[in-house]
Order: sequence, then structure tokens, then C-alpha cells
Amino acid sequence: MKIYQRYLHGMPVYLVRHYWWAYLWPKAVWFFDHQMIINAILFGQYQKLMKATLARLQHAPQQCVLQLTCVYGSLTPALLQQLKSSALHITDVATVQLRLAQSKQKHGQRLLATRMNAESLAYKSNSFSTIVLFFLLHEMPHEVRCHTLSECMRTLKPGGSLIMTEYGELPVNHWLYRFAATRWMITWLEPFLDGFWHEDIELLLNESGQPLGKRVERVAQENIFAAFYRVTEFKIIQGCKLKPAPLHSGHLIPRGEGGDGGDPKSNPYKCNDHAQHTRHIACSVDV
Ligand SMILES: C[S@@+](CC[C@H](N)C(=O)[O-])C[C@H]1O[C@@H](n2cnc3c(N)ncnc32)[C@H](O)[C@@H]1O
Repeated sequence: MKIYQRYLHGMPVYLVRHYWWAYLWPKAVWFFDHQMIINAILFGQYQKLMKATLARLQHAPQQCVLQLTCVYGSLTPALLQQLKSSALHITDVATVQLRLAQSKQKHGQRLLATRMNAESLAYKSNSFSTIVLFFLLHEMPHEVRCHTLSECMRTLKPGGSLIMTEYGELPVNHWLYRFAATRWMITWLEPFLDGFWHEDIELLLNESGQPLGKRVERVAQENIFAAFYRVTEFKIIQGCKLKPAPLHSGHLIPRGEGGDGGDPKSNPYKCNDHAQHTRHIACSVDV
């Protein structure tokens, strides 16, 4: 039996296979959650990236915010601090990560942690005013990325924001990319990054929004570290002005367009029946 197979237990196979050593192994969780380590992984840019993400959140609607998947370092406590008394929803498929996030919560702060697969969220459509994605998409295979973006489009309400902090577009002029050894090392550690570099995220969002009558407008983008990284805010617009186009990947499955409620004040945890029987787990509140 290969080591990674110990961590399967209903987890997404790509995550277990390629990232067990980073996110699922408890010793690694302890190790990587040191600010110095996570900062080194991001070539010393963690603070800048976090600051730019928080600055975007400042402009975004903050009534109901979801951090889609946990991250190492101080982002979650910083988001909680910025949201003051409002709750921060956080979802991840790994219990060990959710527990770590919960351990960073201070008295009086409200972190609502749920265990779900980002590909198939059990939140109702139009639940969130803002979703924060911090270095998630480049760690996913194309199909998983499409499903995750599709879930963001479904669960974000019109007028809401998707804040994406990620690698930039294909960095052909960046020294880290031009130098073969560093390019090899980065893409070896991050096996789906090359696919992400070639992806048009705005197009994917618009394709998955189309069956829901939603589209996005990129309202801001800050490039960091000579555009090796970027922080982008997409606004969700109701009404599809796009020409009907064939689906980009052929994998996108429109979900929730029947409208399973859009009351902004209602509980986002009410299960979306449709999501429940699509792909993988979509369950469990309260870890
Ligand atoms: C946000 S990403 C990377 C964050 C970044 N490297 C950092 O820590 O600063 C890592 C998290 O995504 C989670 N994750 C990956 N794929 C997922 C999926 N399909 N559904 C839910 N969580 C997922 C992992 O369990 C892990 O906690």
C-alpha cells in the first residue's frame, strides 16, 4: 500500500495523492503552519498577498463571507478580525485543516466551519455575498477547478464578489519561470499549476454562470511579485449578456438553476438536494 492511500477515506483522490504530505499528514500540518515556512513557499510574498486580499475584502460586500478552504498562516485570523462581529464561514474537505483553523479563532469571533468538497457544496444558491479563494484553484485538476468555480457562481448572489488570490497568468518573463531548474521544481511540487497557468478563469466563470443567468465582471486585479501572483476581484452580475457558446470543457454541469431559494437572510447550510447527490461528499456541519 502506498503511503498516500492511508489518507483516502472519502477524500478527493487528487488531493490525497499529490498533497497528503502538505495538508493531511498531522506532522506536516504543524510544520507548514509556521508563518516563516508558508512565507518561504510563497517566495516571501505572503504578507503582501494577504494585505491585498484583505484590501479587496474591504471593498466587497461583507454580509455573508465564505473562505473556501483553509490556508496556512494568518489569513483566517486576519479575515475574522476584519469581519469583526460578522461570522466567517469556512469550508474544507480535511478535518485536520478545519481544526487548525478553529484553533486560531479568538474569543468572540465567529468561525463557522463545515466539512465539504468544494466541487459540490451543500450551501443553497445565492447564499454568499463574498467568497475568498486563496491559492486553491492551481492545486486542482481542470475538471475539479471547473466544478469548484461553478459552485462559486451558484452560491454567490448577484452583486457579490469572488476574490481570488492565485498565481498570475503564464509568467513567461519571470525569472522563476525562465530558469529551468526553478520552473521544474515549482511544477513538480504543484502538478496542476501548468494547467492553471493556461486557464482563462474569467471565461470558466462565465461559462458556468451562463445556465444560472449570471456572469462576472473583473473589477480589480493587483499583480504581485512581477505578476507571478495576482489578487483579482470578480463581481457577480445577474443577467447573461454572453452569446451562447459551447461549454469550454464539456465537463461543466449546471447545478441549482431551479432556484433552491435565494433569501439572503436564510441559513446557507440548508442542503442543496441537487448538490447532495452529485459527486463525492457534501456533508457535515460542525467538525
Ligand atoms: C487553499 S489550498 C492551499 C493554500 C495555500 N497553499 C496555503 O496554505 O497558504 C489547501 C486547502 O485546500 C483543501 N482542499 C483541496 N481540495 C479541496 C476540495 N476539493 N474541497 C475542499 N477542500 C479542498 C485542502 O484540504 C487544504 O486544506
